Amino acid sequence: MSTDNTFNITKVSSTRVENVNLDDPGFGERFSDHMLEVEYREGQWQKPSIKPFGTIEVTPALNTLHYGQSVFEGMKAYYADENTVNLFRPEKNHQRLVRSCKRMCIPPVSEDVFIDGITKLIKLDHQWVPQKEGNTLYIRPFVCAFDPIISARVSDSYRFFIITTPVGSYYNRPVKLTTSQKYARAVKGGVGAAKTAGNYAASLYPAQEAEEKGFDQVLWLDACEHKFVEEVGTMNIFFVIDGVLVTPELSGTILPGITRASVIQLAKHWGLPVKERRLTIDEVMEAGANGTLDEAFGAGTAAVIAPVEEIHHDGQSVRFDFEQRGPVGQKLHDQITDIQWGKAEDPFGWITPI
Ligand code: COI
Repeated sequence: MSTDNTFNITKVSSTRVENVNLDDPGFGERFSDHMLEVEYREGQWQKPSIKPFGTIEVTPALNTLHYGQSVFEGMKAYYADENTVNLFRPEKNHQRLVRSCKRMCIPPVSEDVFIDGITKLIKLDHQWVPQKEGNTLYIRPFVCAFDPIISARVSDSYRFFIITTPVGSYYNRPVKLTTSQKYARAVKGGVGAAKTAGNYAASLYPAQEAEEKGFDQVLWLDACEHKFVEEVGTMNIFFVIDGVLVTPELSGTILPGITRASVIQLAKHWGLPVKERRLTIDEVMEAGANGTLDEAFGAGTAAVIAPVEEIHHDGQSVRFDFEQRGPVGQKLHDQITDIQWGKAEDPFGWITPI
């Protein structure tokens, strides 16, 4: 083990990277050689450790397994050249993690540990960053409650982990969406704006029902009236209506996506009209019927810009004819990924090269 002032570091004796096809890695199935772990006890975060990736032994009474007091982030490392890997707006992920922690009563992890931890980990595992265009090393920081007690109360102990996994594209074709009049992703006053495990668990059953009906994802509507569009699957949703880029405003029930914020900033920079506002599913379907719904796409870290092929609501469908993305989605996708891979100028200072 080596140690500097801030981290204990134990390296693997030999890498496993040769066993993984980085050109076709799937999504989140294989994990890089090292991981980071930090313990929170006696009211403070302890010295972080970077160590060989491996299993962790926990008691079946671990509170996080029962009550889901846990939060996570999703980020990517992009291969730029043999000496450089790019991170995309990592400080934004840290800020969101802190907000998620607050909502879930979890002590926040410092920006230094978050950014330095990722940097050290990626430098150690740089061979795991895929070089093939479109593939990346997905970074999954997460914090979970760690008291060995099945009482439903705020935990006294926590663990912060960062694991990384080589990934390809999240969706390999445009997605078909359906709304649901029965289920909702988030409620006002709930945890929809936090990146917490339960939001994803709660979405699985409605997503399974949608799949059984031949759709890929649920286009989430608000929980009260099932009228206003909120998100799609695990992404933020965008529409181009009559030349205007429209996305639901952040209302407390929507995850403040970093790709979402980047899409908005970039589109405004190009002079494209952008509106963050409430919009009803009826307005979307009407725009589809009268020919003013130019395109629709989901935006998220894993999928970047995921084109929508079909929106189904209340017995009606709107379909898009694009083979892949529409022109606006494609231009945003290309510019964002070119910035991420260091192939385009970075006018907003989004990239942290490491
Ligand atoms: C991401 O887009 O990074 C997410 O966190 C979604 C996850 C389901 C892969």
